[in-house]
Amino acid sequence: MKLFDVYPLFDLNFVKAEGSYVWTDKNEKYLDLYGGHAVISIGHSHPFYVNKVTEQLQNIGFYSNSVKIPIQEEVAALLGKISGYNDYNFFMCNSGAEANENAIKLASFHTGRKKNICFTKAFHGRTAAAVAATDNKSIIAPVNETDNFIFVPFNNTTLLEEAFANNEISSVIIEGIQGVAGVQIPEVSFLQKIRSLCDKNEAVFICDEIQSGYGRTGKFFAHQHANIKADIITVAKGMGNGFPVGGVLISPEIKAKHGLLGTTFGGNYLACAASKAVLEVLASENLMQNAIEAGDYLFEQLKDDENIAEIRYQGLMFGIELKTPCAPFRNQLLQDFKILTGNASCPNTLRILPALTITKAELDLFIKAFKTISQSKLVTI
Ligand SMILES: Cc1ncc(COP(=O)(O)O)c(C=O)c1O
Repeated sequence: MKLFDVYPLFDLNFVKAEGSYVWTDKNEKYLDLYGGHAVISIGHSHPFYVNKVTEQLQNIGFYSNSVKIPIQEEVAALLGKISGYNDYNFFMCNSGAEANENAIKLASFHTGRKKNICFTKAFHGRTAAAVAATDNKSIIAPVNETDNFIFVPFNNTTLLEEAFANNEISSVIIEGIQGVAGVQIPEVSFLQKIRSLCDKNEAVFICDEIQSGYGRTGKFFAHQHANIKADIITVAKGMGNGFPVGGVLISPEIKAKHGLLGTTFGGNYLACAASKAVLEVLASENLMQNAIEAGDYLFEQLKDDENIAEIRYQGLMFGIELKTPCAPFRNQLLQDFKILTGNASCPNTLRILPALTITKAELDLFIKAFKTISQSKLVTI
């Protein structure tokens, strides 16, 4: 059997990883500034994390959600404390898409309504409701087509108000910062408007923090920069530092009922051990503060580069928009400097999503490489 060929692949076979670095089978060392789509939060193979997951595996790896799994409660308690959402309830699942799927369903169960507002260029995953909240036609199969999702241009308050005026809205789903779209940051006033319109219309505010959460922006959740609370927050990616896990933080206003949500693997012991270790390292190593300091440093070093049109960033979530397509830059960073970076749906934007443990010395390697490429005029404007 061969693999179903859905991914364009770099010819790289990583066999070892540590901190911000990965090594290939040819023992070539790469600086990882992308963390496999923002997944690596506390650094590859963090020793504390490896020990905790190993220890858990040696005791018990799995039993289903038909028995008490106390480590789920430990994760929920720690997450509540660190995120400031102490009074919310927590449901664990396996991926980002599944978290959003559950969030949209929960809102609909709660309100008894069908229509949801989402935003242009958003990405929320590939399951039925999550993919319907994305306006990228190429990933929506006929079976996913529905008129239950209303697309509003990002940051457009007038059209947001209009969408509420013309429909009975169940939920609004928005990324804390749009990631796949190229790090598009919602205006503070826009998030505050969503909050007030949801309150007025008794709709559920869902914030997708799958890419922007877990301390990446310097606060635990990106929407906390706008001083608002969402009713439901979805998490995944950085939550497990590579262990597949997702979760939904749920306002106490939304009531649980047996059978309302469910999953076989969600909240298994290993996922919990990984998630708990991530939260412990985030706190003990003060990584949110590092995200702020390292992010500001990177911005300061690059802001005057003449090939850059705009840098959009918060903490260590960076969209570096070049004046030309970023592919030549990205390829050269990879081939000549052994640095992994990401792209975005807007072709000029280079996405940088390093581990929150990254040091200034490691960022200097990227800054030097970037400037060398920029000055070499290999990419001309
Ligand atoms: C903001 C956001 N939401 C949801 C998802 C989907 O997550 P997953 O691939 O774990 O299903 C992603 C993945 O890139 C994402 O960036």
